Amino acid sequence: MDSALPVVRRKRKRRRGRANADPFVNPIDSPNDSAPTPERAAGALLWWAAAGVNFTLGERPFDHFAAPEAVSSRLRDGPAAESAPPSRPAAAFAPRASAPLLGAPAQAAAAELAAAARDLPALRATLESFEGCGLKKTATQLVFSDGVPGSRVMLVGEGPGGDEDRIGRPFVGRAGQLLDRMLQAIGLDRSQVYIANVVPWRPPGNRTPTPEETQICLPFIKRQIELAAPQFLVCLGALSAQTLLGVKSGITRARGSWYPYMCGDGREIRAIAMLHPAYLLRSPSQKRAAWADMRALSAALR
Ligand code: URA
Repeated sequence: MDSALPVVRRKRKRRRGRANADPFVNPIDSPNDSAPTPERAAGALLWWAAAGVNFTLGERPFDHFAAPEAVSSRLRDGPAAESAPPSRPAAAFAPRASAPLLGAPAQAAAAELAAAARDLPALRATLESFEGCGLKKTATQLVFSDGVPGSRVMLVGEGPGGDEDRIGRPFVGRAGQLLDRMLQAIGLDRSQVYIANVVPWRPPGNRTPTPEETQICLPFIKRQIELAAPQFLVCLGALSAQTLLGVKSGITRARGSWYPYMCGDGREIRAIAMLHPAYLLRSPSQKRAAWADMRALSAALR
């Protein structure tokens, strides 16, 4: 009998503190709320943190439903509707803080801006001022490229990780060091290749870029490939192979095969899909397959 007592007490206690006990209801949204108090706001923050939200995008709420109209009218009216001079198209499309580009309008703006970039420095400058991709808000800086444009080989990864975000160059962390060793194995180093990513800003928490983020960044990486003009394109990992080569299968099936990559100007580049070095760090038994792919690249280069 005695042992049942604490259980009864616990149950009563829980019932008394019931107001915001539902874990699916944010305390700040409770229907019984009157004015928000500092305690309730603190409770709401704890609730968000427990739900996995660990960063904020801005200080003020933003009405995402209002944005597309504001943006499409700006796209419709063209750069002339903006105060920036027409000679700076990136600035002309750069949104004001109150109306960031989103979704399809951002993709349309990205395509227009990417096509307008005449060389790689111009493309980099365009990306520096582009506000249409949410990843930029949480990233420390743009991670544009490493290596030498015009090299015979261009490698494209998924997106920067923490080290790349801090340093501003692609593939400088552990995966990058492995990539260097893979290149070295076929007699290459960073002075003989050009390196970039499908998305040039670090996705928060190193998550995979969403399809929307990927589509918004796609015109930029395509233009970067066109301007860097490699002879061979190496797509590292599933996202790169699927996005750039239209591969439908997983990377373990797609790797090791050659694909045609069509540039916007009609030029064709030979492309190969390979396992991502970060995956190889987690699955060292796959290094044999990666070595076979590096040898295939080496043979093509000879
Ligand atoms: N992984 C990538 O795909 N790119 C980088 O730049 C670093 C890690």
